[in-house]
Amino acid sequence: MIKRHFATLLTAAFLFQLWSCSEPSDQPKANALALELGTEPVVAIQPTMYGIFFEDINSGADGGLYAELVKNRSFEFENPWMGWKHLPEAETRFNTINELTPINNEDHSVNNRRYIRVDKRDESQNFGIQNEGFDGIGVQQNGKYDFSIWAKSNSGGITIVINLIDSSGHIVGSTSITPEGNAWKKYEASFLSNATVQHALMNVYFKGKGQMDIDHISLFPQDTWKQRKGGLRKDLVQLLADMKPGFVRFPGGCIVEGRTLAERYQWKKTIGPIEERKLLINRWNMEFTHRPLPDYFQTFGLGFFEYFQLAEDIGAEPLPILSCGLACQFNSSEMTPMEKLDPFIQDALDLIEFANGDKQSKWGSVRAAMGHPTPFNLKFIGIGNEQWGEEYFERYAVFSKAIKSKYPAINLVSGTGPFAEGDLFQSAEKSLALLKPEIVDEHYYKSPKWFLDNAGRYDHYDRSRYKIFAGEYAAQSVATGSPKNRNEWECALAEAAFMTGLERNADVVYMSSYAPLFAHINRWQWTPDLIWFDNLHSFGTANYQVQKLFSTHKGTHTLSLQKEGHALIGQDSLYGVASIDTISKKIILKLVNVSHHAQPIEIHLQSMDKISTGTVLTLKSNDLHAVNSLSAPDVIKPIESHLDIQQGMIQLELDAYSFKVIQLEKKE
Ligand code: AHR
Repeated sequence: MIKRHFATLLTAAFLFQLWSCSEPSDQPKANALALELGTEPVVAIQPTMYGIFFEDINSGADGGLYAELVKNRSFEFENPWMGWKHLPEAETRFNTINELTPINNEDHSVNNRRYIRVDKRDESQNFGIQNEGFDGIGVQQNGKYDFSIWAKSNSGGITIVINLIDSSGHIVGSTSITPEGNAWKKYEASFLSNATVQHALMNVYFKGKGQMDIDHISLFPQDTWKQRKGGLRKDLVQLLADMKPGFVRFPGGCIVEGRTLAERYQWKKTIGPIEERKLLINRWNMEFTHRPLPDYFQTFGLGFFEYFQLAEDIGAEPLPILSCGLACQFNSSEMTPMEKLDPFIQDALDLIEFANGDKQSKWGSVRAAMGHPTPFNLKFIGIGNEQWGEEYFERYAVFSKAIKSKYPAINLVSGTGPFAEGDLFQSAEKSLALLKPEIVDEHYYKSPKWFLDNAGRYDHYDRSRYKIFAGEYAAQSVATGSPKNRNEWECALAEAAFMTGLERNADVVYMSSYAPLFAHINRWQWTPDLIWFDNLHSFGTANYQVQKLFSTHKGTHTLSLQKEGHALIGQDSLYGVASIDTISKKIILKLVNVSHHAQPIEIHLQSMDKISTGTVLTLKSNDLHAVNSLSAPDVIKPIESHLDIQQGMIQLELDAYSFKVIQLEKKE
């Protein structure tokens, strides 16, 4: 994986040179380029055409979208004290905290067995523990925060005092709890923060005298998405909702497979009461030696129920991807023998029942007990992520038979592996033609030039076989600075050009998603990424702006858009696609000019003489290296303008290095 990423960067560097040096159209055009716009719908565009790919990489879930602010809340990380330290001095007070005894105690969590025993014999002692959060704890002034802790008072009386402190040690929020009774119980208290702090710390002091067991120490903002208790970060979900995605693919990515089979993603372990969800190491914990995150674990607070709920909230189809019985083939050759695949297949069948079964069914009742009695209406399920070889296809075939015979209406998603061309890709295509999945996932992390060159990739794809899911893609930059591979305008522009080809071929391409989705500014492993955030803020990259414009302006059917009888796939450095929304009757043109000079175009609007106005949304920058950032999030953002249409003709200048979405409305 590391090597592959590095190789991609080198290739990107080389190809960038080529692209920059061989600008295809160097001279400004004196005359406008005439484009021909068709009037009849050509092919339908699926509602799922543009979606999102979610994976817990770069702190996407824990330390990101999942709004929990306490790291290692149940002391279940490999090193139980990771993220915590003792107050006031760790070493001198260590023996007063009885260490983390694994227990087999029926009234405690059987999946997360560790807990802390606080044994305080002297009232005058002043000690506690401190949590560092994920890159600190971000809190907003006047924001309300929910603290909770599981506790069991064995003797005496101890009050737990919680202080949130800033970097100077000032208390910015405080509350206290006095647990009573010798059975495990959850205690909750809320407080207000009196300041905005990006990197606060949480002190938990034990006052009084006695013995107490504590576990699952948690802190959440109250202001989460939909104000759900223990929910998701509102600003991050809002950025997703604003894209109006057609689907949400989850939970990955390589995280589905695991570096070993034991570390694969198992959905059944991610549902039910939060404190019962068994923690698992994140496979991105040590993948990249340049940026290890040894404290990267999956709490599964954002688990399969929450993924389904998120998809429903933002009007997207859920697309879960499940392990096919192979560990990540980049890391391991571990595979489940064919005759032992049953539990994996059962997981897939049970997931469909969990999502769609009525509330009397075994798994539907679990969903209902979690607060969602109505089905989630699952239509798609993916088997395996970046898998390859005979070992994958023979396993896929068994899954396919079992799922199709029980649930014929479910659309199966298979894949061509990690590469967009070459031997593995070609042999996958051959196997898949026989296996007949409905949809096939292709991945490409390539140079901007590759994306330009491939704007016509699907123009000649076989229409008689499966549909395509462009499931992971991102143009790779060669920027200097940190990170080296950044979300530069050049990459976003090349993706826009490529996406015109996805949309033009909407009869073949049913789904597409940029990847990865999220990255924490100080806790990432992989770049580029669609959305960046710190503990309090977030922004969409130039690539995000491109994705959002495509997704929110897709139309229901394509129209033909040509120059001299040919689709626009780079002639005169232009790329384009047209569509119509047959309900609103809006016509939408998407035009990308990758030339470094402006180009005038004109389009005759045959039989559309009632169109007299249009709006134009433009993304542009003369600097191909331009990026959005936390301090300047709007360097690349849509600028709206108005278009006057005279005598049924659009005349427009396409700015240098620009992507325009033009919407035409009929005046009745
Ligand atoms: O998007 C990051 C990773 O890239 C995904 O986990 C994997 O599928 C691909 O290799």
